[in-house]
Amino acid sequence: MELDEVIKKRTSVRYFKEKKVPKETLLELIKAAIRAPTASGLENWRFVVFESPEVRNRVYRLIADGMVEYYRAVNLPEDKMEKLRTRMYEDGMYRAPVYVAVFIDRNVRFLKGREYDELELLWSVESAAMAIQNLMLKAVEFGLGTVYIGVTNFRGIDEEVRKLSGLGEGHYLVGIIPIGYPQEDRAPRKRRKSVEDVVEFL
Ligand SMILES: Cc1cc2nc3c(=O)[nH]c(=O)nc-3n(C[C@H](O)[C@H](O)[C@H](O)COP(=O)(O)O)c2cc1C
Repeated sequence: MELDEVIKKRTSVRYFKEKKVPKETLLELIKAAIRAPTASGLENWRFVVFESPEVRNRVYRLIADGMVEYYRAVNLPEDKMEKLRTRMYEDGMYRAPVYVAVFIDRNVRFLKGREYDELELLWSVESAAMAIQNLMLKAVEFGLGTVYIGVTNFRGIDEEVRKLSGLGEGHYLVGIIPIGYPQEDRAPRKRRKSVEDVVEFL
């Protein structure tokens, strides 16, 4: 598949078939991920793959908690909130055969000195986000769907995910990526802004 086709085809998928994703495929996705640029060559990312039904169920619950908090924070009306709960708890939104949690290890440093703490955190998160994008694009090639989950970064939920992953306090959660075969083919979502709206040539 040409890169242009992959980029145009990728769109967030939130409903998946309960069909196993082969381990070799998952390793190919992570191989693609770690080809991403990495600030200062740190490669301080960590990919935790949740596959067993029990642990997946716990991850799914944490995603659902995060989504409820997200919509509460924007005062979503109760009827819409109810619709969301139905989608999540009855229709199976966000239930996937695999979840990959992506972390960075904050203890792995290049720049010395507290004044660089924030910058190096940002660089590491940016690097991990680029790795996630590679993974998501590679997934398209395998006919797999993905969605970036950021709501698990809400305070408390991120800690639960970290503990579930068996990682120490120095690990910072960048995102969770549900992966699976899409329940249905869907057209990529349109953008509200055109290239002219966002570009500036000086
Ligand atoms: C950093 C980040 C965090 C996101 N967090 C969530 C999330 O928690 N839940 C969710 O359903 N989608 C999440 N998304 C997906 C966006 O909603 C989605 O990319 C956007 O609506 C555009 O749709 P598209 O990916 O289909 O083009 C996130 C995307 C990014 C980049």
